Parts: sequence; C-alpha cells; structure tokens
Amino acid sequence: MATSGRRPIAIVTGASAGTGREIALSLGTAGYDVALLARRTAEMEAAAETIRADGGDALILTVDVRDAAALDAALDGFLAWSRGRVDVVVNAAGYTGPLSPPIGEFSIDEFDSTLATNLRAPFIVLSRLLPVMRKAGAGRVVNIGGNHGMRGRAGRSSYSASKWGLRGLTRSAALEAGPDGVTVNYVAPGPIAVPRMKANWRRLAEQRGLSEEEALKAYVADMGIPLERPSEMEDIVAMILYLVGEGGRNITGQELVVDGGATL
Ligand SMILES: NC(=O)c1ccc[n+]([C@@H]2O[C@H](COP(=O)([O-])OP(=O)(O)OC[C@H]3O[C@@H](n4cnc5c(N)ncnc54)[C@H](OP(=O)(O)O)[C@@H]3O)[C@@H](O)[C@H]2O)c1
Repeated sequence: MATSGRRPIAIVTGASAGTGREIALSLGTAGYDVALLARRTAEMEAAAETIRADGGDALILTVDVRDAAALDAALDGFLAWSRGRVDVVVNAAGYTGPLSPPIGEFSIDEFDSTLATNLRAPFIVLSRLLPVMRKAGAGRVVNIGGNHGMRGRAGRSSYSASKWGLRGLTRSAALEAGPDGVTVNYVAPGPIAVPRMKANWRRLAEQRGLSEEEALKAYVADMGIPLERPSEMEDIVAMILYLVGEGGRNITGQELVVDGGATL
C-alpha cells in the first residue's frame, strides 16, 4: 500500500509458527517492517533474522494473548517501536481448543481459553490499533478465522463459536472504520498443511495402517473437499497479500473462504 516513501509497518500475531510465521516472512519480503507476536521467542527470532537479512526491521513481542494486560503492554511496545504508525494488522494467533469432546464434556475454562485466544485477543488488538489507523485515514486488517466459523462441526463447538464470533467483530469493525479508509476482512482457511496438521496426518496414517498419501486422501474425503487437497500456507498468504495490496482497496467486511470448496 502507498505510504509516502517510508517502509510500511505490519504486526502479525501468531507469528512463531505455521501460517502466521509465513505471513510475517512474506510481508517482510514485500517490503514491510514487521512486528511478530506470540509466546515462543526463539521461533520468532529466527523469522525476524530472515526479515532483517532482507533489509527490513523486525520486532519481537513475546506474550500470551489470553493475558489482556500483557497483550495491551505489548501493543504499547509495538506503538513505541513503530512511532505510532501501523499499516497492516494480521490476527493469526489461534487455538483449536478441545478437539473431540461434545458440549458437557469439557470445562468452561477450556471454552474461555479458546474464546480468549481466537476472539478476545483480536478485539484487544483492534481496540488499540484500529483508532490509530482510522486517525491516519488508511490501514488494512485481516483476521484469520476458519471454515469452522462458516459452519458448525460436532466436537469443535468452542473453536467454531470463537471463529464465528470473529466474523461479527470483523463486519462491525469494517462498518466503523470504512469511512476512514480502513478495510477489515476475514480469511477463512480450511485445513492447512502446516507442520502441526502434517503431524496429525502422520498419526492418522499410523492408526489406520495407511501410507501418508493414502491417509491424506482419506482425510480430504472425510472433510468433503471438492478440490481434493488441503490448503498450502502459500494459498492463505496469497489471499492476505491480495487484501493488503492495491487489489484489496475496495474489499471490506468480507469472509474470504480458502478451503478447496469444503464449505459449499
Ligand atoms: N492449520 C489449519 O488447518 C487451520 C485451519 C483453519 C484455520 N486456521 C487458523 O489459522 C491461524 C493459524 O493457524 P496455524 O495452524 O497456521 O498455526 P499453528 O501452527 O497452530 O500456530 C499457532 C500460532 O498461534 C500462536 N498462539 C496460539 N496461542 C497463543 C497464545 N495464547 N498467545 C500467543 N500466541 C498464541 C502460536 O504461537 P506460540 O505457541 O508461540 O504462542 C503460533 O504462532 C489460526 O488462527 C488458526 O485457527 C488454521
């Protein structure tokens, strides 16, 4: 995006692993200075080094996003580093929560923890950074939801509720910030081939006595994905780069589903 000659500034939560890390690195390659936020410092340090080696600046913010006061303090640190500027916010930190138990068989604390990570943390980030963008008259926000925020799924109630809630936050923020030139969108991936998911598929292969390729095929069939493949991280990153680039300037409040058609 146009930033009068200076390097644009992005902040990415969940930047220590998986898709968030890939998004941070891609924004660095695209010419952004990037703040990386998550709990694992060492993993973020490696990504920050790559961004710096490419000529960009990088800041590491080590914080558990479920701790509202600590997250707020980290955002203070971010605004001090960025001299009160921010062009792009990507809320990618996410947690699946209890994975199989039905409602009634997991605790309220577990429900709260999922909501605090997937919904309250993006709200806290927006509370601090949306006013900054609105005052500047420009900015792009991308909230990473999931296709379980577009549909229900047995055994995913807290996750689905949190991602569904994030859609409401996205649309409302888009309505509030639109007149000030700020876009707010929601990207809904289906299964992504991140290291965590690949480990799940390897476990599935062992449990069912299948090759890894057969296990992935079975998983894709179970998920009913018409394009018969999970997303790669690049598929999600490409959508985010589109939304924060020129092509995204007139897109706001939308849910962009990148799931091979699984929610059709
Ligand atoms: N992978 C998928 O198949 C898939 C599908 C649909 C949607 N998504 C969504 O896409 C986003 C990225 O998922 P992913 O699978 O690529 O990531 P991942 O590999 O599971 O990594 C999750 C990231 O979120 C951070 N995070 C989690 N809890 C946190 C906390 N309490 N405080 C601070 N950071 C926290 C982790 O950092 P630390 O552990 O260092 O704190 C890590 O950087 C998430 O919002 C996820 O819900 C993923």
